[in-house]
Amino acid sequence: MSGTMNLTLKVWKQKNKDTNGALETYQVKGISPDMSFLEMFDVLNEQLISEGKDPIAFDHDCREGICGMCSMFINGRAHGPKEGITTCQLHMRSFKDGDTIVVEPWRSKAFPVIKDLAVDRSSFDRVIAAGGFVSVNTGNAKDANNILVPKDDADDAFNAAACIGCGACVATCKNSSAMLFVSAKVSQLALLPQGQVEREARVLNMVAQMDEEGFGNCTNTGACEVECPKGISLENIARMNREYYGATLKSKK
Ligand code: SF4
Ligand code: FES
Repeated sequence: MSGTMNLTLKVWKQKNKDTNGALETYQVKGISPDMSFLEMFDVLNEQLISEGKDPIAFDHDCREGICGMCSMFINGRAHGPKEGITTCQLHMRSFKDGDTIVVEPWRSKAFPVIKDLAVDRSSFDRVIAAGGFVSVNTGNAKDANNILVPKDDADDAFNAAACIGCGACVATCKNSSAMLFVSAKVSQLALLPQGQVEREARVLNMVAQMDEEGFGNCTNTGACEVECPKGISLENIARMNREYYGATLKSKK
């Protein structure tokens, strides 16, 4: 078929978190450049099922860059070679006919492999449960000028809220640090009036949970910001550090 691609895939296969995995080689043929990376995996899995073989497990849900479920490390980069997109938004036109593509799961002690390319990111859920919420009753939507929020704060809070919890920042970081994710969640609430009641407890509890889950420290390499599909800024980490030291000082008074 003209205009289609034949590819060699080297994909991480691992039965569960207690077994060792290894790269396995697969051939896929007749791939349209307009397919998404996940649709290419659907073709491969249909082929494997029709051959009576085990399909490759991978996470996905929305397939439009919203849910944060898709999580593939492609040719050594989280979410593949393009910046500012998730794996489900990556198209096969980003590759060439005859390419070999290596696909691995997120790798972090805090994200154990469930099977193949699917990892357990419930550590993120536990960090959110430790403080990523407001418990004040905010009622119905109010007139915009009832609670005044400076425009810059509103913009920064909105940008931080764009984090979809995909975990690419952790997978990319040589320290498996979750600081970009946690700082986005802390910032989003610290910048708004509704987040003030639990402001100090929130940052202390979320950072404590982050450490307990086994995420590493930030050493300011900035790799997370480069690979984040939502453009979450390192400024959030600086803000979280300020929030943390402020809360620590207050708790010692
Ligand atoms: S900060 Fe970016 S890379 Fe990290 S979880 Fe959020 S969206 Fe994903
Ligand atoms: S499947 Fe939802 S962000 Fe990729």
